[in-house]
Formats: sequence, C-alpha cells, structure tokens
Amino acid sequence: MPASLATTFLNHTYENPFMNASGVHCKDTKELNELDNSKSSTFITKSSTSLKREGNPEPRYFSVPLGSINSMGLPNEGFNYYLKYVIDRQQRMPKGNPAFFSVAGMSVDENLKMLKAVQDSDFNGVTELNLSCPNVPGKPQVAYDFDLLGEILQKVFEFFTKPLGVKLPPYFDFAHFDTAASILNRFPLVYVNCINSIGNGLYIDIEKESVVIKPKNGFGGLGGEYIKPTALANVRAFYTRLNPSIKIIGTGGIRTGGDAFEHLLCGATMLQVGTELYKEGVSVFDRIERELKEIMEKKGYTSIEQFRGKLRTL
Ligand code: SIN
Repeated sequence: MPASLATTFLNHTYENPFMNASGVHCKDTKELNELDNSKSSTFITKSSTSLKREGNPEPRYFSVPLGSINSMGLPNEGFNYYLKYVIDRQQRMPKGNPAFFSVAGMSVDENLKMLKAVQDSDFNGVTELNLSCPNVPGKPQVAYDFDLLGEILQKVFEFFTKPLGVKLPPYFDFAHFDTAASILNRFPLVYVNCINSIGNGLYIDIEKESVVIKPKNGFGGLGGEYIKPTALANVRAFYTRLNPSIKIIGTGGIRTGGDAFEHLLCGATMLQVGTELYKEGVSVFDRIERELKEIMEKKGYTSIEQFRGKLRTL
C-alpha cells in the first residue's frame, strides 16, 4: 500500500508535514508565492519587526560543507507587508492550507504590539513568536532568559486567543530542558518549534585565515548537517516533557527523507527545511517527500502516525 504523508496539525490536515524554516525563501511575495506553489504543504513568513529592516551588513550568509552560517539580523519588509500577504492569500484561497506568520520584535513591547495587531486582524492562520534570533547585535536570545520567557508569555496570553507557537533556540542541558518545559507548559501554546540555528558559531576560511561573514566579527548561527543531532535532541526532549496539546515542529538538519523520518520518530508533527531549501530551491520538497515515502514503504508504514514519536531506547 502506498505511504501517505498526510499530517493533522491544529484540526487541519495537510498533504505532508513540510514547510520552509522562517528566514529561508520567504522574504518577499515572489518567494512566498513560489513556496505556496511548491510541494511544501504550507509556508511561514520571514520573522517580521514592526518596521522594515535592512538587517546586518553583507556577506551575512555563507554555505559551508556541512551546512551554513548566517548573521542576517532580521532583514524584513516589515510587519504590515507580511500580514497583508497572508490575509490577501486567505481571501484569494479560502480553502487553502493555513499559513504561518512569524514575528520577532526587538523588545517585549514590540512583540506585544505586533501580536495585538495580529489578534485584531482577519488572519486566521498560525502565529509564531520567534524568541530565539541569535543575530541582532546587543540583543540576547529571549528564550535563554527563563524569567523573561515566562514574563512575555504571561503578557501575550492576557489577550492573545489565536493559535500561537514559539520558535526556540537549542538547549544543551537536561536542567534547561526541564526548566523551559515547565514554563512552556503553563501556557496554551499550540506548538514549539525546535530549533533555531545554533547561535554564535565561527567558521574559518583557512586559506584566507579569515572569518566568512561580516557581522559580529564572523560569529553566526549554524544550520544544516552540523545541527541535526542537537535538533533531534530538542525535539525529543520537548516531546517527552510538554503537555500533549503542545505539538512540536522539527527544524534543523533536514536534508533527506531519512532526516525527516528521524525528526518524526522523535515526535515532531510538522517539519521545516532551511539550509537545504536555500541550497536546492523549492524542488527540495519533491525530493525529500519522495525519499520519506520510500523509507516508509520499505518499513511497511502507510501513515506517519504509525511511527511518530515511537523512538526506541536501549
Ligand atoms: C536572522 O534574520 O538573523 C535569522 C532569524 C533567526 O535566526 O531567528
């Protein structure tokens, strides 16, 4: 029997679990339309700030053999641009798969202001609050400050009633998995997205004896193959700690159908592709979906639910 990749997320059944990772192939309407017409089942917009931002000086993204290093600094067209795009699309395609809309303010107040505007808008998709951008000089990643994480979610849920998820940075210690999970479990989040890039790596060109990106003297977020084991660990750690009503989106190192299978086995419901989408373009979704189906069929699985979350331990 052929394998089905159908995935139910928030009472909506998507044809497959795949979409882009925010930041990749989603900065303007042209790229968003390309994603919408691709084999990804939905898309997420570039994390927006209230106003348009140029971001960090270039070069700010560099492909390396095992992935990528970037310090983009949230270049984006501004909150209204992306909100208009997702609302226009809803009106154009009322039966289309729900889209994801990402915000990443520079302060608690800016995040609250944007989320209030989402709440008051006609947008009926899914909102992601990005609490993990490592690339804005002078702005630490919010989700590494546990007091601030609790405080911001407390303030958000005083008024926000639409479906909301958070994008998390990687955590590296069981104590941090436990603490983060105990805070997240206090709120009616619909998902957590694990993980953003591994912040502040340093890649060196040995010939030039130099860093490869300009911002922050070469320090930048790592993506791609480098980060898959850390991404899987975070997906698994939160899948086993969070209330079952909080789903997990798996992001990090998904290059092949096998990588996708591993994320699903750890408990992810939806999957985001970043570095490999940047490298291959939107046709990456055809290939990864084909590869995932082949693996499932070889193993005799006809649906993702038959193995999702069922990672064995020794
Ligand atoms: C960036 O624009 O610097 C990347 C966004 C992120 O990592 O959250």
